[in-house]
Amino acid sequence: MSFHTIIEPFRIKSVESIKFTDRPEREAALRAAGYNVFRLRAEDVLIDLLTDSGTGAMSAAQWSALMLGDESYAGSRSFYRFERVVQELTGFRHVIPTHQGRAAERILFHTMLKAGDCVPNNNHFDTTRANIEVEGAEALDLVIPEGRVPALLHPFKGNVDLGALERLLEERGDHVPLVMATVTNNSGGGQPVSLGNLRAVADLAHRFGKPFFLDACRFAENAYFIKKRDPGQEQRTPREIAHEMFRLADGCTFSAKKDGLANIGGFLAMNDDGWAERCRNLLILTEGFPTYGGLAGYDLEAIAQGLEEVLEEPYLRYRLRSTEYLGEKLAAAGVPIIQPPGGHAIYIDARALLPHVPPLQYPGIALVNALYTEAGVRSVEIGTVMFGLRPDGSETAAAMDLVRLAIPRRVYTQSHIDYVAESVLAVARDVENLRGYRIVSAARTLRHFTARFEPLAADPAVDAPPRRD
Ligand code: F0G
Repeated sequence: MSFHTIIEPFRIKSVESIKFTDRPEREAALRAAGYNVFRLRAEDVLIDLLTDSGTGAMSAAQWSALMLGDESYAGSRSFYRFERVVQELTGFRHVIPTHQGRAAERILFHTMLKAGDCVPNNNHFDTTRANIEVEGAEALDLVIPEGRVPALLHPFKGNVDLGALERLLEERGDHVPLVMATVTNNSGGGQPVSLGNLRAVADLAHRFGKPFFLDACRFAENAYFIKKRDPGQEQRTPREIAHEMFRLADGCTFSAKKDGLANIGGFLAMNDDGWAERCRNLLILTEGFPTYGGLAGYDLEAIAQGLEEVLEEPYLRYRLRSTEYLGEKLAAAGVPIIQPPGGHAIYIDARALLPHVPPLQYPGIALVNALYTEAGVRSVEIGTVMFGLRPDGSETAAAMDLVRLAIPRRVYTQSHIDYVAESVLAVARDVENLRGYRIVSAARTLRHFTARFEPLAADPAVDAPPRRD
Protein backbone atom coordinates (compact mmCIF):
# COMPACT_ATOMS: atom_id res chain seq x y z
CA MET A 1 0.00 0.00 0.00
CA SER A 2 1.47 3.36 -0.92
CA PHE A 3 0.15 6.56 0.63
CA HIS A 4 -0.13 9.92 -1.09
CA THR A 5 0.01 12.10 2.01
CA ILE A 6 3.50 13.41 2.62
CA ILE A 7 3.66 13.96 6.37
CA GLU A 8 6.00 16.05 8.48
CA PRO A 9 8.92 13.66 9.07
CA PHE A 10 9.16 14.55 12.78
CA ARG A 11 7.03 14.77 15.89
CA ILE A 12 6.86 17.82 18.11
CA LYS A 13 8.67 17.70 21.43
CA SER A 14 8.60 21.32 22.48
CA VAL A 15 6.16 24.09 21.57
CA GLU A 16 6.10 27.87 21.58
CA SER A 17 2.83 29.81 21.88
CA ILE A 18 1.94 32.38 19.27
CA LYS A 19 -0.02 35.50 20.14
CA PHE A 20 -3.40 36.35 18.62
CA THR A 21 -4.09 40.05 18.02
CA ASP A 22 -7.07 41.86 16.54
CA ARG A 23 -7.09 44.16 13.53
CA PRO A 24 -6.98 47.49 15.46
CA GLU A 25 -3.97 46.20 17.41
CA ARG A 26 -2.20 45.22 14.20
CA GLU A 27 -3.03 48.53 12.54
CA ALA A 28 -1.55 50.39 15.50
CA ALA A 29 1.54 48.18 15.54
CA LEU A 30 2.12 48.71 11.82
CA ARG A 31 1.66 52.46 12.06
CA ALA A 32 4.17 52.60 14.92
CA ALA A 33 6.55 50.54 12.77
CA GLY A 34 6.50 53.14 9.99
CA TYR A 35 4.56 50.66 7.82
CA ASN A 36 7.68 48.51 7.58
CA VAL A 37 7.15 44.96 8.88
CA PHE A 38 10.88 44.67 9.64
CA ARG A 39 10.25 47.17 12.43
CA LEU A 40 7.43 45.19 14.09
CA ARG A 41 7.89 43.36 17.35
CA ALA A 42 7.88 39.67 16.42
CA GLU A 43 5.43 38.86 19.21
CA ASP A 44 2.82 40.97 17.39
CA VAL A 45 3.07 38.53 14.47
CA LEU A 46 0.92 35.39 14.38
CA ILE A 47 2.63 33.49 11.57
CA ASP A 48 6.04 34.74 10.63
CA LEU A 49 7.03 34.13 7.03
CA LEU A 50 9.46 37.05 6.89
CA THR A 51 12.32 34.67 6.29
CA ASP A 52 13.44 31.07 6.38
CA SER A 53 16.79 32.28 7.67
CA GLY A 54 17.73 31.28 11.20
CA THR A 55 14.08 30.66 12.01
CA GLY A 56 14.05 26.86 11.73
CA ALA A 57 13.44 24.40 14.57
CA MET A 58 16.51 22.47 15.62
CA SER A 59 16.26 18.72 16.16
CA ALA A 60 16.72 16.92 19.47
CA ALA A 61 20.07 15.74 18.09
CA GLN A 62 21.12 19.35 17.45
CA TRP A 63 20.06 20.50 20.91
CA SER A 64 22.03 17.69 22.48
CA ALA A 65 25.02 18.50 20.27
CA LEU A 66 25.02 21.98 21.85
CA MET A 67 26.10 20.40 25.13
CA LEU A 68 29.16 18.97 23.40
CA GLY A 69 30.31 22.44 22.36
CA ASP A 70 33.96 23.09 23.16
CA GLU A 71 34.34 26.79 23.88
CA SER A 72 38.14 26.92 23.66
CA TYR A 73 39.30 30.09 21.96
CA ALA A 74 41.76 28.25 19.72
CA GLY A 75 41.72 24.71 18.37
CA SER A 76 38.25 23.83 19.68
CA ARG A 77 37.13 20.21 19.20
CA SER A 78 33.83 21.56 17.84
CA PHE A 79 35.69 23.37 15.06
CA TYR A 80 37.35 20.15 13.94
CA ARG A 81 34.01 18.34 13.82
CA PHE A 82 32.51 21.25 11.86
CA GLU A 83 35.51 21.37 9.52
CA ARG A 84 35.34 17.62 8.86
CA VAL A 85 31.60 17.71 8.05
CA VAL A 86 32.01 20.70 5.70
CA GLN A 87 35.08 19.20 4.01
CA GLU A 88 33.32 15.88 3.46
CA LEU A 89 30.29 17.65 2.03
CA THR A 90 32.02 20.23 -0.16
CA GLY A 91 35.48 18.85 -0.81
CA PHE A 92 36.96 22.34 -0.18
CA ARG A 93 40.30 22.38 1.63
CA HIS A 94 39.87 25.58 3.60
CA VAL A 95 36.84 26.03 5.84
CA ILE A 96 36.50 29.43 7.48
CA PRO A 97 33.61 29.81 9.95
CA THR A 98 31.75 33.13 10.02
CA HIS A 99 28.87 34.41 12.12
CA GLN A 100 26.55 34.31 9.10
CA GLY A 101 26.52 34.30 5.30
CA ARG A 102 27.05 38.01 4.75
CA ALA A 103 30.26 37.96 6.79
CA ALA A 104 31.59 35.30 4.43
CA GLU A 105 30.57 37.54 1.51
CA ARG A 106 32.23 40.59 2.98
CA ILE A 107 35.49 38.77 3.62
CA LEU A 108 35.51 37.14 0.17
CA PHE A 109 34.70 40.33 -1.73
CA HIS A 110 36.98 42.58 0.29
CA THR A 111 39.77 40.13 -0.44
CA MET A 112 39.09 39.56 -4.14
CA LEU A 113 37.50 42.74 -5.57
CA LYS A 114 38.72 46.16 -6.50
CA ALA A 115 36.79 49.20 -7.71
CA GLY A 116 35.53 48.80 -11.27
CA ASP A 117 35.31 44.98 -11.05
CA CYS A 118 32.17 43.07 -11.88
CA VAL A 119 30.75 39.86 -10.37
CA PRO A 120 28.23 37.86 -12.40
CA ASN A 121 25.66 35.60 -10.72
CA ASN A 122 22.24 34.25 -11.65
CA ASN A 123 20.73 36.76 -9.19
CA HIS A 124 22.62 38.31 -6.34
CA PHE A 125 20.81 38.39 -3.02
CA ASP A 126 20.57 41.81 -1.34
CA THR A 127 23.51 41.36 1.04
CA THR A 128 25.65 39.87 -1.72
CA ARG A 129 24.90 42.81 -3.99
CA ALA A 130 25.55 45.32 -1.22
CA ASN A 131 28.84 43.70 -0.24
CA ILE A 132 30.01 43.90 -3.87
CA GLU A 133 28.85 47.48 -4.38
CA VAL A 134 30.51 48.66 -1.19
CA GLU A 135 33.85 47.66 -2.80
CA GLY A 136 33.03 49.91 -5.77
CA ALA A 137 32.32 46.87 -7.95
CA GLU A 138 29.25 45.91 -9.97
CA ALA A 139 26.90 43.02 -9.12
CA LEU A 140 25.55 41.67 -12.40
CA ASP A 141 22.44 39.45 -12.65
CA LEU A 142 22.64 37.00 -15.56
CA VAL A 143 19.74 34.65 -14.92
CA ILE A 144 18.18 33.07 -18.04
CA PRO A 145 15.35 35.15 -19.58
CA GLU A 146 12.79 32.53 -18.44
CA GLY A 147 13.87 33.29 -14.86
CA ARG A 148 12.49 36.80 -15.18
CA VAL A 149 8.96 35.82 -16.20
CA PRO A 150 7.00 34.91 -13.06
CA ALA A 151 4.22 32.81 -14.63
CA LEU A 152 6.42 30.87 -17.01
CA LEU A 153 6.97 27.20 -16.22
CA HIS A 154 10.55 25.98 -16.50
CA PRO A 155 12.23 23.33 -14.35
CA PHE A 156 15.41 25.34 -13.70
CA LYS A 157 14.56 29.02 -13.68
CA GLY A 158 17.68 29.71 -11.62
CA ASN A 159 20.01 28.78 -14.50
CA VAL A 160 22.68 31.24 -15.55
CA ASP A 161 22.44 32.65 -19.08
CA LEU A 162 25.54 31.00 -20.56
CA GLY A 163 25.63 33.21 -23.68
CA ALA A 164 25.53 36.37 -21.59
CA LEU A 165 28.20 35.03 -19.25
CA GLU A 166 30.48 34.15 -22.17
CA ARG A 167 30.03 37.61 -23.70
CA LEU A 168 30.83 39.25 -20.38
CA LEU A 169 33.97 37.18 -19.94
CA GLU A 170 35.08 37.97 -23.51
CA GLU A 171 34.36 41.71 -23.28
CA ARG A 172 35.17 42.54 -19.64
CA GLY A 173 37.03 39.44 -18.49
CA ASP A 174 39.90 41.49 -17.04
CA HIS A 175 37.46 42.99 -14.56
CA VAL A 176 35.74 39.76 -13.50
CA PRO A 177 37.68 38.27 -10.58
CA LEU A 178 35.18 35.46 -9.94
CA VAL A 179 31.95 33.95 -11.26
CA MET A 180 29.09 33.04 -8.92
CA ALA A 181 25.86 31.03 -8.94
CA THR A 182 23.27 31.10 -6.16
CA VAL A 183 21.62 27.77 -5.31
CA THR A 184 18.70 28.00 -5.10
CA ASN A 185 18.21 31.41 -6.67
CA ASN A 186 16.55 33.28 -3.82
CA SER A 187 15.99 36.67 -5.48
CA GLY A 188 14.63 34.92 -8.57
CA GLY A 189 12.00 32.95 -6.64
CA GLY A 190 13.89 30.15 -4.85
CA GLN A 191 14.39 28.52 -8.23
CA PRO A 192 16.95 25.76 -8.76
CA VAL A 193 19.97 25.61 -11.04
CA SER A 194 20.40 22.40 -13.04
CA LEU A 195 23.50 20.26 -12.78
CA GLY A 196 24.15 20.76 -16.49
CA ASN A 197 24.05 24.53 -16.07
CA LEU A 198 26.40 24.41 -13.07
CA ARG A 199 28.80 22.25 -15.09
CA ALA A 200 28.66 24.69 -18.03
CA VAL A 201 29.17 27.77 -15.79
CA ALA A 202 32.15 26.08 -14.14
CA ASP A 203 33.61 25.16 -17.55
CA LEU A 204 33.18 28.70 -18.87
CA ALA A 205 34.68 30.29 -15.76
CA HIS A 206 37.64 27.92 -15.86
CA ARG A 207 38.16 28.42 -19.59
CA PHE A 208 38.66 32.12 -18.84
CA GLY A 209 40.82 31.33 -15.81
CA LYS A 210 38.24 32.53 -13.26
CA PRO A 211 37.32 30.85 -10.00
CA PHE A 212 33.71 29.72 -9.65
CA PHE A 213 31.99 30.23 -6.30
CA LEU A 214 28.60 28.97 -5.16
CA ASP A 215 26.35 31.00 -2.90
CA ALA A 216 25.29 27.71 -1.36
CA CYS A 217 22.72 28.81 1.28
CA ARG A 218 20.05 26.40 -0.02
CA PHE A 219 22.25 23.76 -1.63
CA ALA A 220 20.23 20.81 -0.25
CA GLU A 221 16.93 22.10 -1.67
CA ASN A 222 18.69 22.66 -5.00
CA ALA A 223 20.11 19.12 -4.89
CA TYR A 224 16.64 17.68 -4.33
CA PHE A 225 15.19 19.68 -7.22
CA ILE A 226 17.96 18.23 -9.41
CA LYS A 227 17.01 14.74 -8.26
CA LYS A 228 13.34 15.37 -9.09
CA ARG A 229 13.74 17.29 -12.34
CA ASP A 230 17.10 16.67 -13.99
CA PRO A 231 16.86 13.69 -16.34
CA GLY A 232 19.18 10.88 -15.25
CA GLN A 233 19.55 12.14 -11.66
CA GLU A 234 16.55 10.45 -10.03
CA GLN A 235 18.52 7.43 -8.79
CA ARG A 236 21.15 9.49 -6.97
CA THR A 237 20.87 10.58 -3.35
CA PRO A 238 20.67 14.30 -2.53
CA ARG A 239 24.07 13.91 -0.86
CA GLU A 240 25.68 12.54 -4.02
CA ILE A 241 24.20 15.38 -6.06
CA ALA A 242 25.32 17.97 -3.50
CA HIS A 243 28.83 16.52 -3.61
CA GLU A 244 28.94 17.00 -7.35
CA MET A 245 27.56 20.56 -7.15
CA PHE A 246 30.28 21.60 -4.71
CA ARG A 247 33.03 19.78 -6.56
CA LEU A 248 32.31 21.80 -9.70
CA ALA A 249 33.15 24.97 -7.79
CA ASP A 250 36.36 26.43 -6.37
CA GLY A 251 34.73 27.74 -3.24
CA CYS A 252 31.48 28.85 -1.66
CA THR A 253 29.84 31.25 0.72
CA PHE A 254 27.27 29.73 3.03
CA SER A 255 24.68 30.88 5.52
CA ALA A 256 24.05 28.04 7.99
CA LYS A 257 20.76 29.77 8.89
CA LYS A 258 19.16 28.16 5.85
CA ASP A 259 20.27 24.65 4.86
CA GLY A 260 22.56 24.41 7.89
CA LEU A 261 19.33 24.04 9.93
CA ALA A 262 20.89 26.30 12.56
CA ASN A 263 19.77 29.59 14.08
CA ILE A 264 23.06 31.35 13.37
CA GLY A 265 26.31 30.75 11.53
CA GLY A 266 27.94 30.44 8.16
CA PHE A 267 31.21 29.77 6.45
CA LEU A 268 33.48 30.62 3.58
CA ALA A 269 35.24 27.69 1.95
CA MET A 270 37.73 27.40 -0.90
CA ASN A 271 40.63 25.46 -2.32
CA ASP A 272 43.14 28.22 -3.04
CA ASP A 273 45.76 28.52 -0.28
CA GLY A 274 46.66 32.14 -1.02
CA TRP A 275 43.11 33.54 -0.95
CA ALA A 276 42.34 31.48 2.12
CA GLU A 277 45.26 33.00 3.96
CA ARG A 278 44.17 36.53 3.06
CA CYS A 279 40.58 35.75 4.04
CA ARG A 280 41.66 34.33 7.40
CA ASN A 281 43.69 37.47 8.13
CA LEU A 282 40.62 39.59 7.54
CA LEU A 283 38.51 37.15 9.57
CA ILE A 284 40.71 37.66 12.61
CA LEU A 285 40.25 41.41 12.29
CA THR A 286 36.45 41.38 12.25
CA GLU A 287 35.00 37.95 13.12
CA GLY A 288 37.41 36.11 15.37
CA PHE A 289 40.09 33.44 15.48
CA PRO A 290 39.90 31.01 12.52
CA THR A 291 38.66 28.10 14.63
CA TYR A 292 35.52 29.91 15.77
CA GLY A 293 34.98 32.84 13.37
CA GLY A 294 32.41 34.71 15.46
CA LEU A 295 30.54 31.59 16.59
CA ALA A 296 30.32 29.75 19.86
CA GLY A 297 31.63 26.18 19.92
CA TYR A 298 28.08 24.98 20.41
CA ASP A 299 26.96 26.79 17.24
CA LEU A 300 29.60 24.86 15.29
CA GLU A 301 28.21 21.62 16.74
CA ALA A 302 24.62 22.53 15.80
CA ILE A 303 25.65 23.37 12.22
CA ALA A 304 27.69 20.18 11.83
CA GLN A 305 24.66 18.14 12.92
CA GLY A 306 22.28 20.22 10.77
CA LEU A 307 24.36 19.69 7.65
CA GLU A 308 23.95 15.93 8.12
CA GLU A 309 20.17 16.12 8.69
CA VAL A 310 19.36 18.51 5.85
CA LEU A 311 20.26 15.96 3.19
CA GLU A 312 17.92 13.29 4.54
CA GLU A 313 15.48 12.44 1.81
CA PRO A 314 12.25 12.32 3.90
CA TYR A 315 13.06 15.82 5.13
CA LEU A 316 13.70 17.22 1.65
CA ARG A 317 10.61 15.52 0.20
CA TYR A 318 8.45 17.08 2.93
CA ARG A 319 10.20 20.43 2.64
CA LEU A 320 9.66 20.91 -1.06
CA ARG A 321 6.18 19.44 -0.99
CA SER A 322 4.96 21.69 1.81
CA THR A 323 6.09 24.77 -0.10
CA GLU A 324 4.46 23.46 -3.27
CA TYR A 325 1.24 22.79 -1.31
CA LEU A 326 0.91 26.48 -0.43
CA GLY A 327 1.72 27.45 -4.03
CA GLU A 328 -0.95 25.14 -5.39
CA LYS A 329 -3.61 26.60 -3.10
CA LEU A 330 -2.83 30.16 -4.15
CA ALA A 331 -2.50 29.39 -7.85
CA ALA A 332 -5.76 27.41 -7.86
CA ALA A 333 -7.53 30.54 -6.60
CA GLY A 334 -5.97 32.67 -9.33
CA VAL A 335 -3.30 34.44 -7.24
CA PRO A 336 -0.32 35.10 -9.54
CA ILE A 337 2.80 33.45 -8.13
CA ILE A 338 6.22 32.60 -9.47
CA GLN A 339 5.79 29.24 -11.12
CA PRO A 340 6.76 26.60 -10.39
CA PRO A 341 6.95 27.03 -6.59
CA GLY A 342 10.47 27.49 -5.24
CA GLY A 343 12.12 25.48 -2.49
CA HIS A 344 11.87 27.70 0.55
CA ALA A 345 9.14 30.17 -0.32
CA ILE A 346 6.19 31.16 -2.42
CA TYR A 347 6.59 34.44 -4.24
CA ILE A 348 3.43 36.35 -5.07
CA ASP A 349 3.70 38.55 -8.16
CA ALA A 350 2.54 41.77 -6.50
CA ARG A 351 2.93 43.78 -9.71
CA ALA A 352 0.42 41.49 -11.43
CA LEU A 353 -1.93 41.28 -8.45
CA LEU A 354 -1.96 45.07 -7.88
CA PRO A 355 -1.76 46.48 -11.42
CA HIS A 356 -3.22 49.78 -10.18
CA VAL A 357 -0.18 50.43 -7.93
CA PRO A 358 2.86 51.49 -10.02
CA PRO A 359 6.27 50.00 -9.06
CA LEU A 360 7.52 53.27 -7.58
CA GLN A 361 4.53 53.22 -5.22
CA TYR A 362 5.65 49.80 -4.05
CA PRO A 363 2.90 47.25 -4.72
CA GLY A 364 4.90 44.69 -2.72
CA ILE A 365 4.77 46.83 0.41
CA ALA A 366 1.03 47.37 -0.08
CA LEU A 367 0.47 43.62 -0.18
CA VAL A 368 2.82 42.80 2.71
CA ASN A 369 1.09 45.36 4.91
CA ALA A 370 -2.39 44.17 3.96
CA LEU A 371 -1.48 40.57 4.82
CA TYR A 372 -0.26 41.67 8.21
CA THR A 373 -3.28 43.82 9.08
CA GLU A 374 -5.74 41.26 7.72
CA ALA A 375 -4.32 38.13 9.30
CA GLY A 376 -1.17 38.76 11.36
CA VAL A 377 0.94 37.03 8.70
CA ARG A 378 4.34 38.63 8.11
CA SER A 379 5.87 38.35 4.65
CA VAL A 380 8.54 40.40 2.88
CA GLU A 381 8.79 42.58 -0.20
CA ILE A 382 11.41 41.49 -2.73
CA GLY A 383 11.08 44.21 -5.30
CA THR A 384 11.54 47.90 -5.88
CA VAL A 385 12.15 48.85 -2.26
CA MET A 386 14.78 46.13 -1.91
CA PHE A 387 16.47 46.54 -5.28
CA GLY A 388 15.24 49.79 -6.85
CA LEU A 389 17.83 52.21 -5.45
CA ARG A 390 20.90 52.54 -7.71
CA PRO A 391 24.35 53.30 -6.26
CA ASP A 392 24.08 56.84 -7.75
CA GLY A 393 20.95 57.51 -5.65
CA SER A 394 18.43 57.27 -8.51
CA GLU A 395 15.45 54.96 -8.24
CA THR A 396 14.07 52.59 -10.87
CA ALA A 397 11.54 49.77 -10.81
CA ALA A 398 13.12 46.41 -9.93
CA ALA A 399 12.82 43.59 -12.49
CA MET A 400 9.89 42.19 -10.47
CA ASP A 401 7.79 43.26 -7.52
CA LEU A 402 7.39 40.14 -5.44
CA VAL A 403 6.06 39.32 -2.00
CA ARG A 404 7.81 36.36 -0.48
CA LEU A 405 6.15 33.96 1.92
CA ALA A 406 9.24 32.20 3.25
CA ILE A 407 8.65 29.00 5.16
CA PRO A 408 10.80 28.39 8.23
CA ARG A 409 12.17 24.85 8.38
CA ARG A 410 10.28 22.30 10.54
CA VAL A 411 8.28 25.05 12.31
CA TYR A 412 4.74 25.31 10.95
CA THR A 413 2.24 22.53 10.34
CA GLN A 414 -0.19 22.05 7.49
CA SER A 415 -2.98 23.90 9.32
CA HIS A 416 -0.75 26.96 9.73
CA ILE A 417 -0.16 26.86 6.00
CA ASP A 418 -3.89 26.46 5.33
CA TYR A 419 -4.47 29.59 7.42
CA VAL A 420 -1.83 31.48 5.41
CA ALA A 421 -3.51 30.47 2.14
CA GLU A 422 -6.88 31.63 3.49
CA SER A 423 -5.33 34.98 4.50
CA VAL A 424 -3.81 35.58 1.06
CA LEU A 425 -7.10 34.78 -0.63
CA ALA A 426 -8.96 37.18 1.65
CA VAL A 427 -6.54 40.00 0.78
CA ALA A 428 -6.62 39.13 -2.92
CA ARG A 429 -10.42 39.39 -2.99
CA ASP A 430 -10.23 43.01 -1.90
CA VAL A 431 -7.06 43.99 -3.69
CA GLU A 432 -8.49 46.96 -5.66
CA ASN A 433 -8.77 48.91 -2.46
CA LEU A 434 -5.09 48.64 -1.57
CA ARG A 435 -3.07 51.82 -2.04
CA GLY A 436 0.61 52.36 -2.65
CA TYR A 437 3.14 53.90 -0.29
CA ARG A 438 5.83 56.53 -0.35
CA ILE A 439 9.13 56.41 1.52
CA VAL A 440 9.45 58.95 4.33
CA SER A 441 13.03 58.11 5.33
CA ALA A 442 15.54 55.50 4.19
CA ALA A 443 19.21 54.54 4.40
CA ARG A 444 21.37 54.58 1.25
CA THR A 445 22.22 50.87 1.42
CA LEU A 446 19.86 48.00 2.24
CA ARG A 447 17.12 50.57 2.76
CA HIS A 448 14.33 47.99 3.02
CA PHE A 449 15.35 46.98 6.54
CA THR A 450 14.82 50.34 8.17
CA ALA A 451 12.85 52.59 5.78
CA ARG A 452 9.72 54.33 7.04
CA PHE A 453 6.71 54.55 4.77
CA GLU A 454 3.46 56.46 4.56
CA PRO A 455 0.32 55.21 2.79
CA LEU A 456 -0.57 57.33 -0.22
CA ALA A 457 -3.83 59.18 -0.02
CA ALA A 458 -6.66 57.86 -2.13
CA ASP A 459 -6.40 59.12 -5.70
CA PRO A 460 -9.82 60.28 -6.96
CA ALA A 461 -9.07 58.77 -10.38
CA VAL A 462 -8.41 55.42 -8.80
CA ASP A 463 -11.41 55.83 -6.54
CA ALA A 464 -13.83 55.18 -9.33
CA PRO A 465 -15.71 51.94 -8.67
CA PRO A 466 -13.12 49.19 -9.04
CA ARG A 467 -13.30 46.89 -12.02
CA ARG A 468 -11.64 43.55 -12.46
CA ASP A 469 -12.08 41.46 -15.54
N1 F0G B 1 22.80 34.59 0.03
C1 F0G B 1 21.50 34.27 -0.10
C2 F0G B 1 21.03 33.61 -1.36
C3 F0G B 1 20.61 34.53 0.94
O1 F0G B 1 19.33 34.20 0.79
C4 F0G B 1 21.10 35.15 2.12
C5 F0G B 1 20.21 35.49 3.20
C6 F0G B 1 22.46 35.45 2.22
C7 F0G B 1 23.29 35.15 1.15
C8 F0G B 1 23.05 36.08 3.45
O2 F0G B 1 23.08 35.20 4.52
O3 F0G B 1 21.56 36.20 6.25
O4 F0G B 1 23.29 34.53 6.88
O5 F0G B 1 23.95 36.80 6.24
N2 F0G B 1 18.97 35.49 3.08
C9 F0G B 1 18.01 35.74 4.11
C10 F0G B 1 16.64 35.75 3.49
C11 F0G B 1 18.28 36.90 4.98
O6 F0G B 1 15.70 36.18 4.17
O7 F0G B 1 16.47 35.28 2.36
P1 F0G B 1 22.96 35.71 6.05
